[in-house]
Amino acid sequence: MNITPVDQTESWQDLVDHAQELNDVTIADHFAADQARVEKLSHQAAGLYVDFSKNRLTPQTLDLLVALAGEVGLTGHRDAMFDGRRINQTENRAVLHTALRRPSGDVVTVEPIGGDSGDEISEDPAHDSANDSETNVVDEVHEVLDQMATFANRVRSGDWTGATGKPIEAVVNIGIGGSDLGPMMAHRALRPYGRPPHSGRELETRFISNIDPADVFESLLGLDPETTLFVVVSKTFGTIETLTNARSARQWLLDGLTEAAGGEVDAAVEGAVALHFVAVSTNAERVAEFGIDTANMFRFWDWVGGRYSVASAVGLSLMIAIGPDNFRAFLDGMHEMDEHFRHAPLAENLPALMGLVSLWYTNFLGAETQAVLPYSDHLSRFPAYLQQLEMESNGKGVDRLGRTLNIDTCPVVWGEPGTNGQHAFYQLIHQGTRTVPADFIGFVHASDPVGNHHDLLMANFFAQTEALAFGREHDDPQRRFSGNRPTTTIMADRLDPTTLGRLIALYEHKTFTMGVIWGINSFDQFGVELGKEMATAIEPELTSDSELDHDPSTNQAIAHYRSRR
Ligand code: F6P
Repeated sequence: MNITPVDQTESWQDLVDHAQELNDVTIADHFAADQARVEKLSHQAAGLYVDFSKNRLTPQTLDLLVALAGEVGLTGHRDAMFDGRRINQTENRAVLHTALRRPSGDVVTVEPIGGDSGDEISEDPAHDSANDSETNVVDEVHEVLDQMATFANRVRSGDWTGATGKPIEAVVNIGIGGSDLGPMMAHRALRPYGRPPHSGRELETRFISNIDPADVFESLLGLDPETTLFVVVSKTFGTIETLTNARSARQWLLDGLTEAAGGEVDAAVEGAVALHFVAVSTNAERVAEFGIDTANMFRFWDWVGGRYSVASAVGLSLMIAIGPDNFRAFLDGMHEMDEHFRHAPLAENLPALMGLVSLWYTNFLGAETQAVLPYSDHLSRFPAYLQQLEMESNGKGVDRLGRTLNIDTCPVVWGEPGTNGQHAFYQLIHQGTRTVPADFIGFVHASDPVGNHHDLLMANFFAQTEALAFGREHDDPQRRFSGNRPTTTIMADRLDPTTLGRLIALYEHKTFTMGVIWGINSFDQFGVELGKEMATAIEPELTSDSELDHDPSTNQAIAHYRSRR
């Protein structure tokens, strides 16, 4: 394991010098200097077309970045992840979301406790699953996938009925963070696959995540308790938002069924929770405590991080919406990208290159943000999904050994679909003072073709990256476009389940690449804990007149709230 801080490596210094050399060279200069630039800097793999040529770099830059990846041992870390080593050393866990999409018959086991994944691994077995080193996790994965498919088919066909014998018409996913963003984003992306002709009976799918009562209130509007199924998703089954929303949903269900039964609490109402609530969790005890029959629980494992969990049972509501075959295609797309990341040389490895290019801007060209601009309304929540993926993984200031990092880590990830963004914030990207590297994601075919909309959409997609890179001269400085604004073009044939799977895995491994180079553990998230603890302490203070013992600003804000509530 390389323990030299990355900014003290030779390759890092080479990149610092190289950045200096390129300081005054524009993207247009690069194109003028090298006729073969596009061929050298664009790649097609795993069904994706990725063109890095409109970036502020040369093929030599990529060589130097690949050398940096070599010096920090990226491929060794990658293999350790795929092999089930306990690379999440702060929680003593393996990181095996890639096992979730492996085909049946593959074999992956989790490194036994006390393995040699690095001398920084803690010996605390608190979160360990029993007997890990003996178990082929791929077998377990496929058992759960089969359980999910049986259940999804029953719901989709109308065979699974609610307490009053009616088939399910609406599925409501209750979860937050990784237990919401993945299935919610993917459901929106693949909505056409939940409709005829891809799917038989169209079900309504909704997502409740926020503790704000508006979310549960609005999400339940118009739904019929007799035909609504809740999927409560929580890895820990201890997340306050999810449990509070699930309790309110249970009350809504019982009230609605009681009303439907003419005010009588009959036998059907009493057994209703078992028919209208299923759980997805790693924690069977807490699921049972909540009152959900563990026979209706779909499990996953401690080696699946929340933000990496959409391919696990966390995707149950997505599978119900698009059907098990489409869900398998989604997993196959991820697996295809996993295999690409695992085997392609780094110089042609799409996730590795994406990570290296993003790192180039963050650490050598001073960019503070990374925009993701999908030219697809179906991908409207993809930037939000990537915010959790990248920022919860790599938004850290200490390395794996607990040393303070002297370099920047994760950029702020943000974005909105085009063309909407063009009429809102693109002004700053074209003419502002900041460098905003942007990923443009587009598709050859429309998911929902209407007239010539798609060609118009894609004309804008191409126009924007050209305008950003090359700009336009003008005598009037207000109307001048300086160009030299970096973009990466990512294209696929269509936004189908396989492509979405490939895209998700692309960004997962991009995130992994960046984390390894910075030397951080991308798989814990202690930064979310402090606020949670303090909210738990503050909640009872809001309804009492106890003395407040916070800082003066917080004391005054709580007092203001108390006086007006
Ligand atoms: O608070 C952050 C977090 O732990 C995320 O990492 C996670 O995806 C989310 O909360 C939800 O956690 P759970 O699935 O355990 O409810």
